Amino acid sequence: MAKRIYKDDCLEVFQVRALKDNLVYMLVFQGKAICIDASDGEAIREFLAEKQLKLEVIAVTHCDYDHTQGLKELKDLDAAVLGPSCLDKYVTQEVQDDEELIVEQFEVATIGCSGHSGNDMMYHFLGAKILFTGDIVFGAGCGRARDEEGAADDIFDAFERVKQLDDQTIICGGHDYLVKNLEFALTLLPENPEVQARLNKARDADGAICATLSEEKGTNVFMMPENEDIKRKLGLEINAEPRAVFKALLSEKQQFNKSYKEKAESVEEEN
Ligand SMILES: [Fe+2]
Repeated sequence: MAKRIYKDDCLEVFQVRALKDNLVYMLVFQGKAICIDASDGEAIREFLAEKQLKLEVIAVTHCDYDHTQGLKELKDLDAAVLGPSCLDKYVTQEVQDDEELIVEQFEVATIGCSGHSGNDMMYHFLGAKILFTGDIVFGAGCGRARDEEGAADDIFDAFERVKQLDDQTIICGGHDYLVKNLEFALTLLPENPEVQARLNKARDADGAICATLSEEKGTNVFMMPENEDIKRKLGLEINAEPRAVFKALLSEKQQFNKSYKEKAESVEEEN
């Protein structure tokens, strides 16, 4: 089911749920569409048919299967495919870090990272102030760092760049782990009213998975590595460097996911 998350005079943005917990975004304008990630070709086709849209562009955040598996199925639509070099045969425009592109009529700036998949791209639609973050920044959370030296550093650096954007920028991640992420945040900040309020809303299915950067800064623990309560909870020195706190948060979240999984008796792997 598609949920509209943004509207202005020339653009609407819809969030489409795909697979288990993936989020695809459809940008709609003048009878046309841009799609962020091709997680589910069938769901994307259904959306296009229902709204009678022509798919012009697919912008891919990274090459993990759960973000690209629809590319083959959508190939006959002849949409341009933007993305990192790993997309090989599908990509029509390879995208690098820190580029400014014109995608249809929209100005888009890229923020690259290599911490999650090795080649991750975020797309910042400058006019609408929406950042599509793939599996780097999630609602109230952070993507898993790959098992490589420097990966956590790369994600930390990407977060620092995101934090420099306008506070009203809407942050749209590639998965819905919102409730779990906020439950994790509460283990570190049990008295925090903003986290509690966002969690209550999320549990009622009323909470926006896409929030503004300002809301993320208030509820996403990965955005607040200077926070002294978090440092204390993690058993770190009060003068611990933000980068070290961020890495400790990533480790703590992995532990949290393990126990969460055991509790839920689920076998899913988080991205
Ligand atoms: Fe993913």
